[in-house]
Amino acid sequence: MKIKKIPSSEITPEHIYIDRRHFIKNLGLILGSTALSAFANKSFAALHTLPSFAQAKEREKEKLSSLKDITSYNNYYEFGTSKSDPYDYAEKLNIDPWSISIEGSVTKPLKLDLDELIKEMPLEERIYRLRCVEGWSMVIPWVGIPLHALLKKVSPNGNAKYVEFVSLKRPSEMIGQKDDMLDWPYTEGLRLDEAMHPLTILAVGLYGKVLPKQNGAPIRLVVPWKYGFKSIKAITKIRLVEKMPISTWMKANPKEYGFYANVNPKVDHPRWSQTTERRVGESLLTPRLKTQMFNGYQEEVAHLYQGMDLNRYF
Ligand code: MTE
Repeated sequence: MKIKKIPSSEITPEHIYIDRRHFIKNLGLILGSTALSAFANKSFAALHTLPSFAQAKEREKEKLSSLKDITSYNNYYEFGTSKSDPYDYAEKLNIDPWSISIEGSVTKPLKLDLDELIKEMPLEERIYRLRCVEGWSMVIPWVGIPLHALLKKVSPNGNAKYVEFVSLKRPSEMIGQKDDMLDWPYTEGLRLDEAMHPLTILAVGLYGKVLPKQNGAPIRLVVPWKYGFKSIKAITKIRLVEKMPISTWMKANPKEYGFYANVNPKVDHPRWSQTTERRVGESLLTPRLKTQMFNGYQEEVAHLYQGMDLNRYF
């Protein structure tokens, strides 16, 4: 897979990228212009090892969402509730230094500076649809670390059944946290097998560049077959646990937001249908797209939910 050349009209203004110190040095080495083709080849090979690369290739034919749409239409309640708030306010967040700890039911707990993590871990480009529970979607070329690679490093023990993710809490820089509309910090969770699935990544970049702050820099989860709210941004802690974690949205409204949150056109949200979606960037006259089971990743992930009542476990 080649990383597409981005027309200059779509290149995001430099100011929305993170301040380029140590973290960017590492990522820059990999994603910088000279290393770019090598990186692209590496990711191409890696993608071939996924179970259904033919489908993945099919998906790549979908038009990528523009960098402008990806970085200016966001959900990131730490910076406010409107779609443009993260673009306007996330710049203030200081993400250097940043460390991430992986703890709980593991034999080798880790606390790593993000630089070290990026140096040690494989990076791959993955083009995924992101389908938001509100009914819009985008197609995003992420750069990320397969989560299973990181989890293997800490050796989960027999008590590890779920993985909990915790976001940053820093109200002095995250103006939305001055409001208690959600129980901060934002938290999310996955079953261990979902976390170990090869499609699940920790994204550190997009469009071949370092992740913009409004998209969850310096590191965020991406679980492409689930509604976007599962893909937690600005992760500081990953905890392996025995009991199912109660995520922020489950706590806020358990009737509307379940633990699984698998994209499913057959299970409506209590207040709206989930059968169709609007691709951000398309004209409002463009017909809405049909939402696909598991966001189109059915072949890869349906086996994880065999025998489960998906109406009950929404
Ligand atoms: N992570 C944190 N920490 N805070 C948030 O408010 N919003 C979620 C998710 N991750 C959110 C978050 C929601 S609702 C969606 S749809 C996606 O991020 C949006 O990701 P994007 O802005 O990169 O498209």
